[in-house]
Amino acid sequence: MEMSFAQVTRVVPVAVIGSGYVGLVAAACLAEIGHEVVCVDVDQARIELLQSGGVPIFEEGLDALLARHRGQRLRFSCNLAEAVRFAEVILIAVGTPQSPTGEADLSQVESAVISICPGLDSYKVLIEKSTVPVLTSQWIARTLRLNGASAKSFDVVSNPEFLREGSAITDFLYPDRIVVGADTERSRKLLHELYQPLIDGSYYRRADRVDGPADLSGGVYYIETSTNSAELIKQASNAFLALKVSFINAVSNLCERVNTDVEEVARGIGADRRIGSRFLRAGIGYGGSCFPKDIRAFGKVAEAVGYNFDLLKCIEQINEDQQTGFLKKLRTALWSLKDKHIAVLGLAFKHGTDDIRESPAITMIRKILAEGSRVSIFDPAAMNNCRAILPESAQLRYAVDEYDAANGAHALVILTEWPQFSNLDLARLHQSMRYPIMIDGRNLYSLAKMSAAGFYYYSVGRPSAEPLPEAHAFAEDNSAMMENGLLNHSLTA
Ligand code: UGA
Repeated sequence: MEMSFAQVTRVVPVAVIGSGYVGLVAAACLAEIGHEVVCVDVDQARIELLQSGGVPIFEEGLDALLARHRGQRLRFSCNLAEAVRFAEVILIAVGTPQSPTGEADLSQVESAVISICPGLDSYKVLIEKSTVPVLTSQWIARTLRLNGASAKSFDVVSNPEFLREGSAITDFLYPDRIVVGADTERSRKLLHELYQPLIDGSYYRRADRVDGPADLSGGVYYIETSTNSAELIKQASNAFLALKVSFINAVSNLCERVNTDVEEVARGIGADRRIGSRFLRAGIGYGGSCFPKDIRAFGKVAEAVGYNFDLLKCIEQINEDQQTGFLKKLRTALWSLKDKHIAVLGLAFKHGTDDIRESPAITMIRKILAEGSRVSIFDPAAMNNCRAILPESAQLRYAVDEYDAANGAHALVILTEWPQFSNLDLARLHQSMRYPIMIDGRNLYSLAKMSAAGFYYYSVGRPSAEPLPEAHAFAEDNSAMMENGLLNHSLTA
């Protein structure tokens, strides 16, 4: 549907149910583009924190956006009934954790939907924003009707989010596309009004806009589909991105075997615009609250409708193997992990977040500890979250910074691609570490730089590097290395 360029935005009253990651970002961004938003949660302590200016999650730019709109176009409440009566659009952004059998557990969605029912006193659109399997919209509509809502009082729309932790605000405001799955004209029109400032580009021409990565003043790519298609788009998108990561990780294993560099190979592949260069960074495997859970849930959806989607199992298997392979690399570099001191940089599942859910770094630390090493760890954001699941002990120490972690260590392991980890003072590290060994799960350094700095350097999908002869001489002076006979052993990654 074509709309005129400078259409005036209608302020839409919005209720966002759930003040978690997706809910908070959506609430802040919808207020930012001009709507009146109330964000509701059953967790009273969380709502009080938000009301008093606190921000319960770490996300770049979120605190500034909340501060800008809190108490004006954005408020927080525990009163769901009032919020539903106030709103024309209700966003459901509650958790959809994984059930023990791998399917998405939709019980929070169901109970949110049931509690919305009594407030449906006039026509409202329910937007399903949580990551859910295909056909969920139909279940939501059915649940509403079973709980007494008249079919005319609502429509259910699937409007999946494609937010990445760490860049969620700009992902919301500067999306590659907005996907709206709606089965009625009335709900399509309301969603169009909701996103009008992004569709007509007027938001991007505002002087006080949040700056973003692209010039979208001509408007965003807005895609209208059926609800079922929108739900599939979300699950298939995540599966495809995870496929890219697993694909390049599989290629990285080949690169190691033929002594070439996956970074070069990825550049060559990604230059083909049909493939694209993003999500082709080899590493220690994907993690986080989305990919692992969503891929399993997608597989379950396929199974439920009688399709054998084995490719999804391969994506998962490669991801697991990548982590096992990395640990093997550590063993090869150090010969044995028993009684070694390993410094670990990075706990979050990726940089820019404090999230450690399904983080490959946590799996790796547990395995290193299980092999009898002492570990000192540092992460600029995720230390507190980590303490809750891996308490400090004689085996595990939380360091104050990278250099404190590395002090006296037999090896330094990089597990998260925080930009500050790619700028370490290598001379200082070299001097303070017991062995100059770095095992880099994120390919943050060039081989030449590490050789020149006197390191034994192992990364992913690239040849290993050894100290240059002059640096080597320096390394050989390191009496600890001589004592342990490490230099007599051939080290291949
Ligand atoms: C992902 C998707 O990228 C979002 O589009 C989606 O909205 C979100 O899931 C969701 O479903 O809510 P996110 O989990 O925040 O976002 O993280 P990504 O940036 O996608 O990274 C996922 C994992 O893949 C991380 O562990 C990351 O380190 C890894 N990765 C990513 C690689 O190993 N290599 C790459 O090239 C890219």
